[in-house]
Amino acid sequence: MTQVVNQDLAVSAAQVVASGSPLYPPTSRQSAAQKIKRTPSDHPATKEQREEILAAPGFGKFFSDHVVRATWLKGQGWQPAELVAADASAGGLSINALHYGQSIFEGLKAYRHPDGGIYTFRPEANALRFQRSAYRLALPPVPTDLFIGALEVLVQADQAWVSSEPDQAFYLRPLEFGSEPALGVKPSDHVTYVLMGSPVGSYFANGVSPVKVWISGEFVRAAPGGTGEAKCAGNYAASLLAQSEAAAQGCDQVVWIDANERKYIEEMGGMNLFFVYGKGAQAKIVTPKLTGTLLPGVTRDSLLTLAADLGYQVEEVKITVDQWREGCASGEITESFACGTAAVITPVGQVDSKDFGTWTIGDGTPGEITMKLRQALVDIQTGRAVDHHNWMHRLV
Ligand SMILES: Cc1ncc(COP(=O)(O)O)c(C=O)c1O
Repeated sequence: MTQVVNQDLAVSAAQVVASGSPLYPPTSRQSAAQKIKRTPSDHPATKEQREEILAAPGFGKFFSDHVVRATWLKGQGWQPAELVAADASAGGLSINALHYGQSIFEGLKAYRHPDGGIYTFRPEANALRFQRSAYRLALPPVPTDLFIGALEVLVQADQAWVSSEPDQAFYLRPLEFGSEPALGVKPSDHVTYVLMGSPVGSYFANGVSPVKVWISGEFVRAAPGGTGEAKCAGNYAASLLAQSEAAAQGCDQVVWIDANERKYIEEMGGMNLFFVYGKGAQAKIVTPKLTGTLLPGVTRDSLLTLAADLGYQVEEVKITVDQWREGCASGEITESFACGTAAVITPVGQVDSKDFGTWTIGDGTPGEITMKLRQALVDIQTGRAVDHHNWMHRLV
């Protein structure tokens, strides 16, 4: 099996260590979960309320009964985590995160498998990215044991919210933010970590139908030295205007290009992009190289491995918008798709822009390799295929 993965994540972990950002003594994972105090909610949803929500959950609109919460205090470190009712307060209007955006998050999903267990996908990778984001935003890293222990405790408590319907999952949202009530611009001395859960269906209302994308000429998502590779709140706030512009142009999603030369493709909304060159067994799967301004997606990383497992050539390179358009015109590029935890893989059918033209990818319908990779990944995540890479982590 070709091992294409983990280099970026590993290098960056080393950077976190080298940076001198505080590290916390590792505990055993089991003891991390055991140490979380459980105070069950006294007002959980009734069975009827929960079933009504699970019948049509949408995406991220409803939340389960509990959250896991921990506080970090300067000079004292992480205080014991606790499971509490989901609506327990975590700070007032003066907290740093609301004013200065010292806030990061993660996103991963839990799936109910045919063996009855509830599993999540590569949580160590999300824990590591969370630590890297924390470093960039001057927040203390949440130790991996606490990160995974919290997943186990929340999913155990709220397992009735994990559907076994095919297109549904339980979305897990770790969030860390500066919660010191103070208006000085400095790293917060009081930090809160919260893990919440939300039952979800398809991310896009139309399921896996191809999206039309708008290349943003005016707005920039991330510049070298900025926060592009961190999963921080401000990146998403700054993306909303361009997303609205895309919608006004009749497109579903925005595609970002690089800030310097305004020609290299970076990513799409909250997803990484892939391009398929050629067809059949000879096809090559290409994705933009991580330059520091893209979010290093866990799905992107996993697909590089799965594509190689399936016998395709894989490549991480800088690719320009002109190459994308010309490759589609010549037939060299046969498919394009976007990938991320929320929507897994979404085919890209059409591209529109002010400066680069308008074109269709292939015949605008989902590509064969796109759908093959999607199926291969979903089968592992939902427990229907052998997990050769040990990516699945049993939570309950
Ligand atoms: C900006 C951005 N790019 C890419 C991704 C895909 O990352 P992942 O595959 O880890 O969900 C996400 C979602 O987390 C994102 O927000």
